[in-house]
Amino acid sequence: MIPYGRQQIDDDDIAAVVDVLKSDWLTTGPKVSEFERAVAEFVGAEHAVAVNSGTAALHAMMAALNIGRDDEVIVPTLTFAATANSVVYQGGTPVFADVDPETLLICPDSVERLITSRTRAIVAVDYAGQPCDYTRLKQIADRHQLTLLSDGCHALGASWHDCRVGSIARMTSFSFHPVKPVTTGEGGMVTTNDAELATRMRVFRNHGIVTDARQREEQGTWFYQMQSLGFNYRISDVQCALGIRQMQKLPGWIDRRNQIADRYDRYLGAVADLTLLKRNCGHRHGFHLYVVRVAGGRRNQVFQTLRENGVGVNVHYVPVHLHPFYQERFGTRAGICPEAEAAFDEILSLPVHPGLTTEQQDTVIQQLTQALAGRHSRAA
Ligand SMILES: Cc1ncc(COP(=O)(O)O)c(C=O)c1O
Repeated sequence: MIPYGRQQIDDDDIAAVVDVLKSDWLTTGPKVSEFERAVAEFVGAEHAVAVNSGTAALHAMMAALNIGRDDEVIVPTLTFAATANSVVYQGGTPVFADVDPETLLICPDSVERLITSRTRAIVAVDYAGQPCDYTRLKQIADRHQLTLLSDGCHALGASWHDCRVGSIARMTSFSFHPVKPVTTGEGGMVTTNDAELATRMRVFRNHGIVTDARQREEQGTWFYQMQSLGFNYRISDVQCALGIRQMQKLPGWIDRRNQIADRYDRYLGAVADLTLLKRNCGHRHGFHLYVVRVAGGRRNQVFQTLRENGVGVNVHYVPVHLHPFYQERFGTRAGICPEAEAAFDEILSLPVHPGLTTEQQDTVIQQLTQALAGRHSRAA
C-alpha cells in the first residue's frame, strides 16, 4: 500500500536517539530545551513549550488562556476532533464555524456570525498545511477583543506572507505524530511570543508543579509545590533528540511536498469529476495533505477502488459537529455548516510525503484517473 503519509527516519536520527538512551537524562533533560529552541527559532517565535502530543499542546493553550465553563471558542468543523476537544477538556463550549468551499479553511464570515458575548477565542486550523486568511481573522479578533489561536498541526514549515506558521497567532500548536511534517513518534509543541503564557504552559505540562526535576537538581533541593492543577504532558529527551534531527530536514521536505503537489495539480487539474483545492496567493503551503474533491457522489467508490489497488487514500475529516459526542453533548446537528458537510461527501486525501517516489505518484495518478473513468484494474 502506498501510504497517504509516512515518517522519514534515517541512520542519523537513530544515532541521535541512541545517544540519549546512553545519557543521564531520558526526560526533562537538555534535549527538551534544545528542541524547543530549534522550533522557536525556525518559526520566529520567542518561546516554545514541548509536550507529548498535539492534543496536549491544544489543551495547554486553552488552559493558559483560562478557558472555562462560561466560555465559547470558535473552531472550524473540518478539523481533527482534538481541536474542539481541547475546549471541552476545560469545560468550555466549542462553536463550529463553516469552511470556505474552495480552500476548506475556516470561513471568516462564518466566524463573525458566531461571535457572542461569551466568545473568548478563535482557533485557525491551517487545514492540509495551507495558512488561513490571517488578515481577516486578525481583524475580526481585534475588533471583538478575542484571542486568535492557531492549530498549526498540519503546517509546521508553512508561511503566511513572510511569517512562518507559529509566529502569527497569539499561540500556535504543533503535532509530531508520524504523518506530520516532522515526527517524534508522538509529541507536540506550542509557540508564542508571550512569556507569561509560556510559563503557564510549562507548569501545566508538569502537574501544575512550578519546578521540574532537573531544575530541582540544579538548585540542590527536593522541595516542590503544586500551585494549580496540571497534567503529565511532558515529552521525553529520547523523542526530542529525534525532533531536533528532523527539524534540520524540514525545509527540504516542505520543498519536496510542494513538488509533489505541483505535479498532482499538473496531471489532475483537467480530470472530469475532480476538483482541486484552491491555493491562496503569496503563501507557502506545507502540504501535510493533498486533498481533492470527487464529484457525483462517487467518493466512497473511488476510495474503495484505490484502496483495493494499493493506494492508501484517506478522508480528512468527519466534520466535528457531526460526531455523536458533539450532537449529544452540545446539540449540534447536520445543516449548521453546509459547506463543510458538502465537502465531507467529496474529499479524498492522496498520498503526499517526502518519501513518495515519482513512480509511486504516477501509480496514484493512474489509479485515480482510471477509477474516475470507471476502468478499474485489480492489483496483481
Ligand atoms: C488539525 C489537528 N489538530 C490536532 C491534532 C492532534 O495531534 P496529536 O495526534 O499529536 O495529538 C491533529 C492530529 O492528527 C490534527 O490533525
